[in-house]
Amino acid sequence: MNQKVYSRIAGTGGYLPEKILTNADLEKMVDTSDEWIRERTGIEQRHIAAEGQTTCDLAEQATLKALDMAGLEASAIDLIIVATTTPDKTFPSTACLLQQRLAIHGCPAFDIQAVCSGFVYALSVADQFIKTGMAKCVLVVGAETLSRIINWTDRNTCVLFGDGAGAVLLEASEQEGILSTHIHADGQYEDLLHVPSGISKLPSSDSIEERTMNMKGNEVFKMAINTLSRIAKETLEANGLQKEDIDWLVPHQANLRIINGTAKKLKLSADQAVITVHKHANTSSASVPLALDEAIRDGRIQRGHMLLLEAFGGGFTWGSALIRY
Ligand code: COA
Repeated sequence: MNQKVYSRIAGTGGYLPEKILTNADLEKMVDTSDEWIRERTGIEQRHIAAEGQTTCDLAEQATLKALDMAGLEASAIDLIIVATTTPDKTFPSTACLLQQRLAIHGCPAFDIQAVCSGFVYALSVADQFIKTGMAKCVLVVGAETLSRIINWTDRNTCVLFGDGAGAVLLEASEQEGILSTHIHADGQYEDLLHVPSGISKLPSSDSIEERTMNMKGNEVFKMAINTLSRIAKETLEANGLQKEDIDWLVPHQANLRIINGTAKKLKLSADQAVITVHKHANTSSASVPLALDEAIRDGRIQRGHMLLLEAFGGGFTWGSALIRY
């Protein structure tokens, strides 16, 4: 009988641009306060890409760190998937640009666009490739320069987001790794969280409102809370596991209140949820791999631990991954 093949995490990496924008800085830009931002979101600061620094630049730095942790050369990679909503160019994909930076040639490379759930979507796709024997070493990156699609005069959105990248190298292994992934979408909520213009729609719009993120925050908040506890339940049931079996919740970092609400429903203690939102704000597809990388590097997440990754974002899209690290 053939041995079961798992996608096992071989290495992780994260990268945040140098420039930090604090809540105090934002107080000078819009009618807001450090107190409001902290109380409603938990955010204290966010990183912002320098002029000319692109999503691929951030992705490359995160990837180099993941390769270093895994002790692998880039030539070992046989599939690249980049989750991003803020690609460098309309085309080629950021994954192709990243492949060029890594000086490797020929392996498939493509982007996934599922906004804040992008990394979990990419992880799910990568896992299918590994389980079916189509790939042996997959680079999965979540990278964003969200600052480029923010209206910096809109206090409803500009305080919430930041730039960054996180990378994970997955290797085919007989040891346990990704146990299951679950991804979903419901396009009927398009207007609650979106950028109205794009390449095909309103391409030459010079309205700042049309070119940047629009969000009905309160409605998104309620949907996120309900959907995330549903997906956690779905994930545990699919694996015949109980809440107590989870060692770490590695959630999308949109709002501390959403994370704490999800952790509470899972009966996890506050310190079993990996939290980076206070330092990074919401980095969309980069937020889950950045949090994962931080908790692996500081030793909280150890080999053998059970991790629940989850995310919710524009689309709406949502997803989860249960992983034995
Ligand atoms: N500073 C000060 N006041 C602000 C503000 C800011 N940065 N942003 C909004 N407000 C005001 C609003 O104008 C509103 O004022 P009003 O009552 O006079 O109309 C008031 O604060 C409350 O707004 P509301 O939207 O109801 O607040 P909230 O408690 O829902 O918190 C969010 C707002 C955006 C923090 C919260 O809804 C949220 O996190 N939503 C989900 C975001 C998310 O997850 N997005 C991405 C999904 S991936």
